[in-house]
Amino acid sequence: MKTADFAIKNGECVLPSPHEPNGFVRERTSIAVRSGRIVAIGAQAHIGAEDVFDASGLVVMPGAIDSQVHFREPGLTHKEDLESGTRGAVLGGITAVFEMPNTKPSTTTAAMFEQKLSRARGRVWSDISFFIGAAPENIEELQYLERHPNCCGVKVFMGSSTGSLLVEDEAALFKILQKGRNRVAVHSEDERRLRERRKLVEGTNDPRLHPFWRDEETAMLSTQRLIRVARAAGRPVHVLHVSTAEEMAFLKTVKDIATVETLPQHLTLSAPECYERLGTLAQMNPPIRDKRHQQALWRAVNDGTVDVLGSDHAPHTLEEKAKRFPDTPSGMTGVQTILPLMLHHVNAGRLSLERLTELICRNPARLYRAVGKGAIRVGYDADFTVVDMKQEKTISNSWIASRVGWTPFDGMKVRGWPKATIIRGNVVMREDQLIGRPKGEPVLFRAGTHE
Ligand code: DOR
Repeated sequence: MKTADFAIKNGECVLPSPHEPNGFVRERTSIAVRSGRIVAIGAQAHIGAEDVFDASGLVVMPGAIDSQVHFREPGLTHKEDLESGTRGAVLGGITAVFEMPNTKPSTTTAAMFEQKLSRARGRVWSDISFFIGAAPENIEELQYLERHPNCCGVKVFMGSSTGSLLVEDEAALFKILQKGRNRVAVHSEDERRLRERRKLVEGTNDPRLHPFWRDEETAMLSTQRLIRVARAAGRPVHVLHVSTAEEMAFLKTVKDIATVETLPQHLTLSAPECYERLGTLAQMNPPIRDKRHQQALWRAVNDGTVDVLGSDHAPHTLEEKAKRFPDTPSGMTGVQTILPLMLHHVNAGRLSLERLTELICRNPARLYRAVGKGAIRVGYDADFTVVDMKQEKTISNSWIASRVGWTPFDGMKVRGWPKATIIRGNVVMREDQLIGRPKGEPVLFRAGTHE
């Protein structure tokens, strides 16, 4: 008798611990799947399944979620689109992405949000959700917009980056945070200081000055203001891509109201070396800074200050990057490299695989209240990121699916590689090859106040 449509056998599975509420155990076991959901976990679970994936020698993580990507559709599809962006995701072992609103036009209305959902239908390789952008003209409607069951949340740009979304003044920020219930994701840089300091780098054509223009104080001023306003409004916030030692020390003390994201770029590259080697390809906002900051970010990853790792996948073409700094756009690809880079860091002993599972699988699902994602549990979606911790590979531009065709990590040798991406029981990538056609679906979110 057929017990399951699909099963994984013999993998070393990263499962929720039965003893510690937030812990994990690694167990060699099998997982059975029916109609896209996990129906059994246990040594015999694969027996009788129609299709069995042999994961001997491999680690089976819950599906990895990249909760910060910019896929540029509509309006900027010469850089990326939903198909190419999600293709990169699954080639890199990512099963779901949360996409940012700074497209053209920005995702600030119900109509634009619905348009993104309909553009995604039948064209996305991974599961997907979209943020709503906060703008001065949609503040009144945000609380209704964020209630869409496929919306991961509201995104606020306190400092301007790519696109026109900006919430600069404190009164507007307070109004946004006061209305609505879900955790708000924030790009935190002080716009006034950014504007004042731009003249210091104007005409220099020297990308090494990027972290000097957008300095530590620019980030800290904004993050302190954000937390003050979040407290006054009683609204939890998620501080995206935190890049400084000072912010991490501060954020460690305000965990009751703020969760924290950091990026593999900031954990892997450092100034001045990255700017000398990569020029404007290393330019992103907030900037990659020196080793002192990088070490503080690593401490924050391991002491519990950081909740989530995202990629901030933000493609720009090589032609655009060839302009004169600071007229060059900020951002780099990342959705395809986040997992290999972090597996490499696990192998180098910088964090544990269990901690990585928390940061890239469980916490993104938890913070945004995604339904059935983030853990290998009976009843949850059968999303798995299957990795070989021993495989060595060199990341190369030719492997990158993004329309812009480059990664700042071209030529980097890593140990640890995604071997298969499985979404709701469908193997969509195996051995670096795509399988079948795009079957991604919108992620579903639970309403209510946040954890
Ligand atoms: O470097 C960046 N690029 N940081 C952002 O926050 C936006 C992004 C983009 O969309 O290009």
